[in-house]
Amino acid sequence: MLFFCLGFGRQKALHSGAVPDVFAHPIDASTRYCAVFGFPVRHSASPAMHNAGLAALGLNWRYLAFSVPPQQLKMALQGAAVMRFVGINLTVPHKLLALPMMDVLDSSAKAWGAVNTVRFEGRTGDRPWQPLGQWSEAEEPEQVRAHGFNTDADALIRALDEDLRWQPEGRSVLLLGAGGAGRVAALRLAASGVRQLYLINRTRDKAHAVAVEIQQRYPGCKVSVDYPMEPVDLILNATSLGLKSTDPLPLDLERFPLHRSGAVYDMIYRPMETALLEAARRAGRPAANGLGMLLHQGTRALEIWTGRPAPVEVMRRALWEHVYAA
Ligand code: ATR
Repeated sequence: MLFFCLGFGRQKALHSGAVPDVFAHPIDASTRYCAVFGFPVRHSASPAMHNAGLAALGLNWRYLAFSVPPQQLKMALQGAAVMRFVGINLTVPHKLLALPMMDVLDSSAKAWGAVNTVRFEGRTGDRPWQPLGQWSEAEEPEQVRAHGFNTDADALIRALDEDLRWQPEGRSVLLLGAGGAGRVAALRLAASGVRQLYLINRTRDKAHAVAVEIQQRYPGCKVSVDYPMEPVDLILNATSLGLKSTDPLPLDLERFPLHRSGAVYDMIYRPMETALLEAARRAGRPAANGLGMLLHQGTRALEIWTGRPAPVEVMRRALWEHVYAA
């Protein structure tokens, strides 16, 4: 969401418009379900976004949210499979835990080492596996399996392009954070041809571990665990600093002032403008928050479950309204 160039009023206008009535089709015995599992999950915006998307596609499906403690994730996934859920999204703290619980991993889950989207698939006899979302209602599959995907990594690249007109090839990035989200972002950027990555993390060893992994897997990308001496093309915040108004900035402005970066992306989307984004605006830098990344991990998940193009603009509006206008 590129809101600083557009201004809040214009941004709001862009996102206004009717969100489909998610109750237009009543729940009945044919209704199919998908859900997000998190712990906690109370603040998830995914149900609002996905239910609007499902309604726009005219599907008799619903998207729910469940608070699942990590030690019960396996049971919850098995329960969802038994109840013929179409699919599941996983959020903190389940994305790594779920990896060994999958029956099969898509190349995206293998490459980025995390699962945020599960598609349940069924088959009868030795026929090919079919996504349960596309399974004919008249028939019951004999077997069901969980197929794990990662849609977070590609969503970052798509959001950077859409919100900042920023492409990774040949560019340099100062990446703040080497936790789960930071590691995936670093690997995805390196895989997309970023020339130079600078990694900063409170726990330096974690940044070192990510640097080593990148050097092994993407030797064409230079990595330093330090602040850059020269300007960079992008600062990307993948830490949780900024969620609270009392948080310090995720970078040391004395070591690296914001005017030395071409653009700033903050994966945080609530609040709409973090202290880092506010500082970027004051420094006159193009900046965007993480709503676009949340949107596109969701639109891709919906496509994986339905086999149909996602109604992106409907989902964008529903997400924006839920997060900022509610
Ligand atoms: P996620 O899956 O969202 O990335 P995470 O793996 O817990 O969550 O990572 C959180 C990130 O925010 C990490 O980079 C973390 O730094 P550490 O690796 O040192 O824990 C960073 N972070 C969280 N709280 C922080 C704080 N108070 N100061 C600096 N960095 C912080």
